Amino acid sequence: VLLSKAEFLKGVVAMDGLPPPDRAEVCMAGRSNVGKSTLINALTGRRALARASNTPGRTQEINFFTVAASHYLVDLPGYGFAEAPVAVKEKWQRLLKAYLTGRPNLKRAFVLIDGRHGAKPVDEGIMGLLDKAAVPFQAVVTKADKGKARDRDAALERTRDALNRHPAAFPEIILTSSETGEGVPALRAAIMGLAD
Ligand code: GTP
Ligand code: MG
Repeated sequence: VLLSKAEFLKGVVAMDGLPPPDRAEVCMAGRSNVGKSTLINALTGRRALARASNTPGRTQEINFFTVAASHYLVDLPGYGFAEAPVAVKEKWQRLLKAYLTGRPNLKRAFVLIDGRHGAKPVDEGIMGLLDKAAVPFQAVVTKADKGKARDRDAALERTRDALNRHPAAFPEIILTSSETGEGVPALRAAIMGLAD
């Protein structure tokens, strides 16, 4: 079953633009280019609902989607190696941190990790922030269709090690591919299982 009736609600560039926290919310966080926007399209079955691109730094606002009327699904700007001027990146990072630590209806953050690389120090930085803010988070490994199985196993192992260091982490990792659809139903079920 799809995340039915997914619609774009708004793009937000400052904390005072956030919609009222009146329903359960989940967000997609992760390094630039990890596949956040593409995964939202796979989850909703809408090919171009969230704008994706090969250029890191594509998503530059906090984008809100309404799904099934009961949830907000949030696409975040990436962190890490976005191709944008330093001053602009710093502005996104501040907004990203303010959002992740200050959103009362945020039920779970999904931290996306590239299946070819595994969790990096910058991912652990975000995980540490989520620990402090007591926001439960779950790792989603992306691009399972890409790269060698051997590299993916190593990436999963590195990710598991990272999760062990973070009290707000769920132990279970969801392995996904937006290309083949692998793991997408499991992620959808995790989202819809989170009620208000
Ligand atoms: P920012 O908005 O810049 O932070 O990036 P993002 O995390 O939203 O990444 P985006 O969804 O734009 O995807 C980046 C690139 O990876 C695009 O070229 C996608 O087509 C590709 N991509 C994303 N997910 C997958 C996947 O599961 N498999 C494959 N093969 N490519 C993927
Ligand atoms: Mg994006």
